[in-house]
Amino acid sequence: MYMEQEQEQEPISSFSSWDISGINHEKLRADVANIYDGVMLLNTEHPDRFSYAESFVYECAMKHMNARNMDMSKSYCIEFWTKNDSNKGSVHIDKDENHFEQTLEYIYPAFSCVTYLTNSNVPTIVTDITNDQYIYKTFSNKNKVLLNMPKVGTQITFDGRFYHGYLNLDDSADERLLIVFNVWENHVPLCRTFYAGTGPCDTKIELCLNKNTEIETKYVSPDTICRKVFNNFLYYDRDSTLLKTGLLKHMDVCSLHTYKTLLFEYDEMKMVREKKCELEVLLSPDMCEERLEKQLEHIVVDKETHVHNRFFQRARFPNFISKERCNWIINESEKYAQDNEGWETKRHVRYPTTDLPVKKIPSIFNFLVHHILFELNNLIIEMHCLPKAAIIDFKDLFVVKYEAVQGKQDFLEMHTDGGVVSGQIVLNDLFEGGGTYFDDGIIVKPKCGELLLHGSCMRHAGLPIISGSRYILVFFVAISFKRNIF
Ligand SMILES: [Fe+2]
Ligand SMILES: [Fe+2]
Repeated sequence: MYMEQEQEQEPISSFSSWDISGINHEKLRADVANIYDGVMLLNTEHPDRFSYAESFVYECAMKHMNARNMDMSKSYCIEFWTKNDSNKGSVHIDKDENHFEQTLEYIYPAFSCVTYLTNSNVPTIVTDITNDQYIYKTFSNKNKVLLNMPKVGTQITFDGRFYHGYLNLDDSADERLLIVFNVWENHVPLCRTFYAGTGPCDTKIELCLNKNTEIETKYVSPDTICRKVFNNFLYYDRDSTLLKTGLLKHMDVCSLHTYKTLLFEYDEMKMVREKKCELEVLLSPDMCEERLEKQLEHIVVDKETHVHNRFFQRARFPNFISKERCNWIINESEKYAQDNEGWETKRHVRYPTTDLPVKKIPSIFNFLVHHILFELNNLIIEMHCLPKAAIIDFKDLFVVKYEAVQGKQDFLEMHTDGGVVSGQIVLNDLFEGGGTYFDDGIIVKPKCGELLLHGSCMRHAGLPIISGSRYILVFFVAISFKRNIF
């Protein structure tokens, strides 16, 4: 039970970062500089002949195997190598390469350990993507990416089944000296030779490893973490441009170097909260003025920009329906929700609202088709200079309910609508906050009974309400020359 809880807290299963003490870094560096550039096996038969670097690898391996509760009745093999490069970056999975060439069978190390002998701006990347996930593309936004900044006196360990590599953030030519080892369980990698060693070393190592828990978590969109990074980066763009533009675009690259370990993951609730905060700022009148002041110069200069799209406009029609009629629509909707399965929350896949499709409530549907559609048809034709024969049909027609109650929907993030023209009629006024924010900075707060029409392609958001409930009737219309409602 204890082990399970431990694992749950790991950012990426079996990834750990460690602070090293009790060793002479200068001596380790000097010894590593003498090591032949290739992958070699540690000859554990003769620990008495270990050089300083070999003793270091051996001590680290023993401590980590112990920390991982590895079964010591099995046989283990340690291979190690040194590395000094900081090219563009790469990502790969460790496997017994020679065995794979001969049999096409994958054998992975139990775990890998990377020790940094220099500080550099070239972080190690660790994903929690296994080879099967890579081959069958079964990764999802639940997968994570971790960047660990190389700092002298630290090392990382991670599960040997994961895709990993490194990333040069700013084309740094920094020296990036590492000593790396893999521990293999019940397996000796093929065609590896034992390290001949630089002779026994009499300096004793009193190695002490302390787990570093300073992990800075950054949340990214599911689109970034899943499609851009795990699809494009792993398959098509191993020089990491997409990782930089996808994961790091919202970060100041210089500030990255102040972190030890950065974890990129997707947290739906956190993303929703952040988007809501962004919109809440817009509710403050001071903020609006301040923003407008900053933007005014740009807005005035920008008056020459023309967008040749007749659907890029919005208009307000006060008192389009009476307050009594609005109230009647709310009552009919609540009655329907009570008699059926409540308000729906999953009708729209990308930007779901808490709503009821009017098609299911015949009283409201008939009223809108017989009393509103004709007038709406004329308004939209006139507003967009469409041919008189154009026919406006409801493509989607629903009543939305925002509630300032914990756990209920009280805002809608930036989006565009399906349809050509979108409309909304606010059905009540017993709420505070709310309104439609367009991404050109304009906020529209229609009164009860007022109709707001805008091009469906214009990006907009539903601002958070602070108290009460806000009901709106929303529709997206299609334009054709043949009547075809739903
Ligand atoms: Fe590797
Ligand atoms: Fe919308």
